Amino acid sequence: MADFNLDREIDRRATPALKWRPMVLGPDGDDLFPAGVADMDFAAPPCVLEALEQRLDHGVFGYEAVPDGLFPALIAWNDQRHGWKIDQDHILRSPNVLNALAIAATLFTDPGDGIVVQPPVFFDFFDLIRENGRRIAANPLILNNGRYEMDFDGLERLARNPRNRMLFLCNPHNPVGRVWTRDELRRVDDICRRNGLLVVSDEIHGDITFAGSPYTPFATLGQAAAENSITCLSPAKSFNIASCCSAFTVVADDARRHAFQAENSRLTVNKNNAFASVAMEAAWRGGGPWLDAVLDYIGRNLALVRERLDGQTAVTLIEPEGTFLVWLDFRALGMGPDDLTAFLRHKAGWAVTRGAAFGPGGEGFARVNIACTRVRLGRALDRLSRAIAGHLDTL
Ligand SMILES: Cc1ncc(COP(=O)(O)O)c(C=O)c1O
Repeated sequence: MADFNLDREIDRRATPALKWRPMVLGPDGDDLFPAGVADMDFAAPPCVLEALEQRLDHGVFGYEAVPDGLFPALIAWNDQRHGWKIDQDHILRSPNVLNALAIAATLFTDPGDGIVVQPPVFFDFFDLIRENGRRIAANPLILNNGRYEMDFDGLERLARNPRNRMLFLCNPHNPVGRVWTRDELRRVDDICRRNGLLVVSDEIHGDITFAGSPYTPFATLGQAAAENSITCLSPAKSFNIASCCSAFTVVADDARRHAFQAENSRLTVNKNNAFASVAMEAAWRGGGPWLDAVLDYIGRNLALVRERLDGQTAVTLIEPEGTFLVWLDFRALGMGPDDLTAFLRHKAGWAVTRGAAFGPGGEGFARVNIACTRVRLGRALDRLSRAIAGHLDTL
């Protein structure tokens, strides 16, 4: 496997990196483990950096069309990597995934309608639904012997209510790391189609899965599933270019796609950003070996977490099948959300995302981003062990 020197520490304080802001602002200075925001501490793939340098060298950045090669690069990537043959005519560009979700919600549901979410789930879903005047219809996941499963009966019940019109599917699922299987997705598709629920599938983490847990694009379930869904894609996570890319929606149903396109025009969100386009095309064309190396590195980081938490009774790793986020169960400590956050921050030096932010079922958990150097992760795990030992001593 090619060596991309992922062990190199890069000082992200030199940029306004969101993930590192608590470190800049926090009382503990650089002593905290920055593991909240879902991006990686690694430099983008060399092929992306080279393409950006070339574009920068050109020096002229006037108005541009979307480069001809961009959509074909997206299509080739998804075909080769996931066996998903996307029709170029079905692809629309959006500024980011959350924008695409908001447009889908406002176009295809009415104010007051319910949008089904399956917490614990990406917290921005909740705000987005509320801020757009829709209602959250929660179908909590079930934690069964350390593995999260969908509550299909619950989904069926919510889907039967005609005021619930849409499902926000998170595939793979942030924060619990499930990579939904084809069978699970088939059941979702069946329930949603029988009950007239439109599936909006957020597949931003689709490229980041571990061996044995392949990502199934929802739209590959078949023509009917594709036509009853809108898929949101982005290379942001896969190549660590979140501040330098856009997102894409795949909409197979003609009427919905035309409506989506018209809304994009109305909101004038169609302008090309030269750097984003160049970065994305380069990533999809040449970033495969880099992503493979990153997946291998994250897999080893995960092994380190597993090894270090093995035998700990205070914290349990929920084994992820994908994403670079781990979901840790601290319920054995018996702390409320504020106390747990304070404990992790002030005793262990961890700046993580509190589980309660992910909705019902998240209390007592924390989401920890492990896309960092192994040395940094190892130090953080040492501090956690010491903090837990210290806490247990006081009981
Ligand atoms: C599931 C999920 N969807 C969407 C986003 C954000 O995507 P974007 O920055 O393109 O809006 C994230 C970022 O963490 C995410 O985890």
